[in-house]
Amino acid sequence: MTAAPGPPPRPDAEGARRALIELRHEVAKAVVGQDAAVSGLVIALICHGHVLLEGVPGVAKTLLVRTLATALSLDTRRVQFTPDLMPGDVTGSLVYDNRTSEFAFREGPVFTNLLLADEINRTPPKTQAALLEVMEERQVTVDGQPRRLPTPFAVLATQNPIEHEGTYPLPEAQLDRFLIKVTLPLPPREDEVHILARHAGGFDPSDLAAAGVRPVAGPADIIAARNAAAQVQVQREVLAYIVDLARATRALPSVLLGVSPRGATALLATARAWAWLSGRSYVTPDDVKALARATLRHRLSLRPEAEQDGTTAESVLDQVLITVPVPR
Ligand SMILES: Nc1ncnc2c1ncn2[C@@H]1O[C@H](COP(=O)(O)OP(=O)(O)O)[C@@H](O)[C@H]1O
Ligand SMILES: [Mg+2]
Repeated sequence: MTAAPGPPPRPDAEGARRALIELRHEVAKAVVGQDAAVSGLVIALICHGHVLLEGVPGVAKTLLVRTLATALSLDTRRVQFTPDLMPGDVTGSLVYDNRTSEFAFREGPVFTNLLLADEINRTPPKTQAALLEVMEERQVTVDGQPRRLPTPFAVLATQNPIEHEGTYPLPEAQLDRFLIKVTLPLPPREDEVHILARHAGGFDPSDLAAAGVRPVAGPADIIAARNAAAQVQVQREVLAYIVDLARATRALPSVLLGVSPRGATALLATARAWAWLSGRSYVTPDDVKALARATLRHRLSLRPEAEQDGTTAESVLDQVLITVPVPR
């Protein structure tokens, strides 16, 4: 018997769940640690959301996205956002074909499943706007003709964390469009030794097949997961808890702009996906708590005075999670 390329079709939700959990082991063949980032990316895919990826250079953001794409049988592309990048360089554009004397659409890099958008804050607002529009509409319209992007489609965007001159930080309203912010911290010492041991043993990050990374899930699993997560029950008390968390962020003196209702719906979605991945058919307040930081931290803007005093979005959320009464 010869093995079929790619994963077997798995129409059932339980099979999809097991495949998405197995995915973590597959990713771990290349990426040491960073479990929270892997979970965050899987949740975003289940929720049909986009991701802000944060971490200093060299913590395996690119490696993680490439490995995840391989393990999920998805196409991936990377775009480096530079000051001179034009909207058409992202979305695609009409090009003149000398042979046919006609204009033909040449697809830009957004025509993929996982678009790694590196350093989006280095490109001017016009090109950022083109990307954000594609994120929202999941299609590119050129010459009046809409062209659908593949399913799934997710933008995984990094921002240059160093506030260089000539960067264009995304406005709050735009950050709100990202479902989740995933951070890749510097690895603990033990993990870093493990990374080096792998390299010493011949690990080549550009050859994932040699590292043993195989497709263990595919787009059908993501769609099955999406449908199953939509069936996860949420009691009214838990909905109210999410709303209370969002409202609490708006009432704090250190906060200029709190979590919007869009942010609250995002938390509902991520908590539901997490409940489903955990094998439950209902959302608990602990699911909400587990996803609150990743889902809400980029949606808060603090008063400059508070920031100078060392307040962070994370510390605000920690405070809110402690003070808002949890339903039982
Ligand atoms: N957690 C990790 N697991 C495995 N390799 C790692 C890890 N962190 C860093 N590396 C190594 O360092 C490289 C980081 O490169 P890259 O993925 O391009 O980082 P980034 O995109 O965050 O700048 C990887 O290719 C790998 O060789
Ligand atoms: Mg990179």
